[in-house]
Amino acid sequence: MQTDSSFTFVLFGGTGDLSMRKILPALYEAHRAGMLAASGKIVAVARHEEDRAGYLQWVNEHVKAHVAKSGIDEGAWASFVDRIEYVKLDLGKAEDFVKLRDALQDQSGTRVFYLATGPSLFVPICHALASVGLNENARIVLEKPLGYDLRSSNAINDAVGEIFAEEQIYRIDHYLGKEPVQNLLALRFGNALFEPLWRREWVESIQITIAEELGVEARGDFYDNTGALRDMVQNHLLQLLSIVAMEPPHSMDSDSVRDEKLRVLRALKPIDPRDISKVAVRGQYHAGVIRGTSVPAYATESGVKTDSATETFVALKVEIENWRWAGVPFFLRTGKRLADRVAEIVVNFRAVPHSALGASALRAGANRLVIRLQPNEMIRLYCLAKKPGEGMNLSSVHLDLAFDQFFKEGQMEAYQRLLLDVINGRLALFVRRDEQEAAWKWVEPILNGWAASGKPKPYAAGTWGPAAASAMLAQHGTCWLEEEN
Ligand code: BG6
Repeated sequence: MQTDSSFTFVLFGGTGDLSMRKILPALYEAHRAGMLAASGKIVAVARHEEDRAGYLQWVNEHVKAHVAKSGIDEGAWASFVDRIEYVKLDLGKAEDFVKLRDALQDQSGTRVFYLATGPSLFVPICHALASVGLNENARIVLEKPLGYDLRSSNAINDAVGEIFAEEQIYRIDHYLGKEPVQNLLALRFGNALFEPLWRREWVESIQITIAEELGVEARGDFYDNTGALRDMVQNHLLQLLSIVAMEPPHSMDSDSVRDEKLRVLRALKPIDPRDISKVAVRGQYHAGVIRGTSVPAYATESGVKTDSATETFVALKVEIENWRWAGVPFFLRTGKRLADRVAEIVVNFRAVPHSALGASALRAGANRLVIRLQPNEMIRLYCLAKKPGEGMNLSSVHLDLAFDQFFKEGQMEAYQRLLLDVINGRLALFVRRDEQEAAWKWVEPILNGWAASGKPKPYAAGTWGPAAASAMLAQHGTCWLEEEN
């Protein structure tokens, strides 16, 4: 659907990695699909290129290769590039912002400032925009990581909040833009079937995994100062958890959804520093083999300290203190250089209260719902069925919904959806400040506990992380999904 609202999309960090890999390709896809107003403009801002011609050359050389989904349609590419203006800007020079304001003077419609820069530049950029009046009636998009802990995240939010009102601020968590995450909302709140069972009476435990085969790539320096807890848990995993666990919102408007997510985040059982080793496992990968290829140890990656204590793997047991979920463990897990690339949610239902069908029914297990977010989005519902033949012998079977078989339309990339939402003023899929604060508050005792002592447990690249992650589940009489197969 094409937006009728005209817009000017100002991209700070216009020659950065994120612009090259995600933002410009997503804007191209939206353009090619006819979803951008014809008069909409993209104004890239950077220091490196001298002029528009130089910038467009950079775009042609670097961005095209990242337009994966549809390939390049040369006609659409040419008209996309026509939308792009360029402003060379040095953040330290106040006069450059006057130049930017002048360049934007003739543009009409919604104005978006996308800060695809390091977080240390967020506040200086906001101040400079305000100094030339560009904050008025504009939207600002902030990329993660937004801060390093609660204090630094509050400092950024306070400073940005003096210049932009909360409803002007779009904090990106790209997981919220993924089609399967949208589908999770559809599954839970579009079907009468699951919701009555989605509670402690019927659910024994829930697992949420985001596993990656990739290592830290070219981001060793950044990652070594960040670690998996800040990089993946504080944002993506806690956002997924809040969508899995939230109460049905009254509507899909932005604050209804975000209010419900916030309630979950505020209900997370605080971690007692003395219990950290019981509920949190951290690991760091050593050399290993992934799909037949040897990969080096984390500590030898470029930009990483050789004696680094940064975790590349986290597993947690989380509890939610409310009536719906009291006593149900949520096991969260993420890591780099694991055995497979997979993101999934596993809902383990309780066994039947009384097995009239005998011991084989109990042995065959209980119902389970697996929601695979990536790769190959699918939903699999495990049920018990009678094996053919004599006697009542049960076996676990499954009903599958593979989305690519059902829907012929291709999925929309997360960034494409989120950028269209910014342009169209839809805030539901962006993280509100109070959500972010609640998430930082909850992870902080773990960060502090880990910083104070010990080191991550080693695991070989290409495995599922340290054995302690399996032991944590074994204490609750369960195991990670892949350990059953
Ligand atoms: C980013 C993290 O937010 O998410 C990366 O900074 C991680 O470290 C990435 O690789 C994973 O996203 P996706 O969409 O590839 O699962």
